[in-house]
Amino acid sequence: MNQASVSFDPEAQLKAETATRAVEFVQSGMKVGLGTGSTAIFATRRIAELLQTGELREIIAFATSKVTWAEAARLGIPMMTEDLPDDLDVTIDGADEVDPEMNLIKGGGGALLREKIVAQVSRREIVVVDETKLSPRLGTHWAVPIEVIPFGWRSQARYLESLGAKCAIRQNHDGTQFVTDSGNMILDCHFGPIADAPQLAGALSRRAGIVEHGLFIGLVTDLIVAGANGIRYSARHA
Ligand code: A5P
Repeated sequence: MNQASVSFDPEAQLKAETATRAVEFVQSGMKVGLGTGSTAIFATRRIAELLQTGELREIIAFATSKVTWAEAARLGIPMMTEDLPDDLDVTIDGADEVDPEMNLIKGGGGALLREKIVAQVSRREIVVVDETKLSPRLGTHWAVPIEVIPFGWRSQARYLESLGAKCAIRQNHDGTQFVTDSGNMILDCHFGPIADAPQLAGALSRRAGIVEHGLFIGLVTDLIVAGANGIRYSARHA
């Protein structure tokens, strides 16, 4: 007799646990930002579940990418049809690298522009990661994704290289060029450990042609980290 095998994915389990913990901060009536990525998607699914059971009511959500929007709409989460309001109560999102000050590198999924737009209007930006994402200095483990408009992009690449980066054009798995939800390209820029991330963020923001960069400085209010010893929560001290 064949026995059905139940597959257990410990990584997915940890992601689901951190997301579930983050969703405890969501209350009925809130305006909620939905993050992008394989961890944040569990928060979207959890919110949908709680709406279905009636434990959450009157949530209205705004998604940080087309992919998240499609999944949230499919799950029946009421989505804002109008433009982003001036404030969201809470956003739950993932990250690629997190430093001790809760600054981040984001954009592994290519949604950094919309993620930052949503983060900056969120009263609470809750980030969910596993402990492999923690880093003494941003840039130690991850390149900084930089969204540039296609017009004149080589000039931006040279500028980034003058700042010490090695840049690669983001590609899809099939080798075609990755295009963001806003029709731009991404340069993944390896700086190595970044001595002064706020200063680099400033230099990137001042350059025309760079639409946005994946350094998220001072935007996170709450961090939830999954590790071998369970889930750790910390809030940013003012
Ligand atoms: C999307 O653009 C990213 O910022 C993600 O939030 C980030 O890459 C983390 O994704 P995972 O949770 O899939 O690691």
